[in-house]
Amino acid sequence: MAEIQKVGVVGVGLMGSGIAQVSASAGLETVVREVDRELLDAGVASIRRVLERSVQKERISGEQRDATLGRVTATLDLEPLAECDLIIEAIVEDLGAKNELFGALDGLAPERTIFASNTSSLTITEMAANTERADRFVGLHFFNPVPVMPLVEVVRTGATSDETLQAAMEFVKAIGKTPIVCRDNSGFIVNRLLVPYMLDAMRAYESGVGSIEDIDTGMRLGCGYPMGPFTLSDFVGNDTLYRITEIMFNEYREPRFAPPSLLRRMYLAGYHGRKVGRGFYDYSGDEPVVSDFVKR
Ligand code: 3HC
Repeated sequence: MAEIQKVGVVGVGLMGSGIAQVSASAGLETVVREVDRELLDAGVASIRRVLERSVQKERISGEQRDATLGRVTATLDLEPLAECDLIIEAIVEDLGAKNELFGALDGLAPERTIFASNTSSLTITEMAANTERADRFVGLHFFNPVPVMPLVEVVRTGATSDETLQAAMEFVKAIGKTPIVCRDNSGFIVNRLLVPYMLDAMRAYESGVGSIEDIDTGMRLGCGYPMGPFTLSDFVGNDTLYRITEIMFNEYREPRFAPPSLLRRMYLAGYHGRKVGRGFYDYSGDEPVVSDFVKR
């Protein structure tokens, strides 16, 4: 299978913009696609911001920033994606929306194009089965913040060919990340272990084991985790985590994947985490403090 030289990224939110940035920074032509102009502009601005920070830190030159941005083509259409060797989907975690997108791309893209989804918990097999290229379909699961986190889970289904897996592994290495191979089970490797851990922290709090701050401090200083479980849940997004638990619980039917009622209440009340300024912590002041919602 030919080397991947041109990459398409569909959806330039938090994950998609990071994926596009690392791809373009690695020297690959990168097409980014969004559904409306405002989201597209915001995604490109976010790529520019990360590159700008690298210039300020003297990691790259102004010329390198410009050359990287020059490799990014932004579009509202699907057609420009058809020239890509690899198309990575990073849109909302909604199977219907993803299937609709891959269905449309399947008719446009040439045979050689590999399709990948950045889903964190939906089933790759189900998306692949909806196309005529299940052998050229993988999961490529990146971690937040994409420019910083070195891991990518490469997910193979029962139908993914060896050549496709190989090409996906090579791509991940080419963009400077470390690939690990996972079977197509909901949550793959990392979320399968991480999600029950975060949910358990919530249950520990609900049963009075310790305060939010102390549980966070415990895991940070006692285990060397960069963030405690509540800070991490706010960082990932409590809405995102809640949706992941629903999908994982549906697949495994095991209580450890079921959302604790506190998480469900926070999801329903809009305490979605750092991106909205409130979650387990309130981020409106200089330092985060535990939200009143959680304490009441
Ligand atoms: N984009 C680009 N760069 C970023 C960034 C972002 N959003 N956030 C932080 N950085 C960079 C900073 O510029 C800084 O770079 P430098 O060292 O070159 O100066 C570096 O990361 C460290 O940042 P800070 O000094 O500001 O802060 P920290 O040392 O606290 O690090 C962190 C921030 C990297 C986010 C760290 O706290 C961390 O690793 N947290 C855990 C993150 C994690 O577990 N992610 C996985 C979540 S699970 C997931 O994504 C799967 C999904 O399916 C749920």
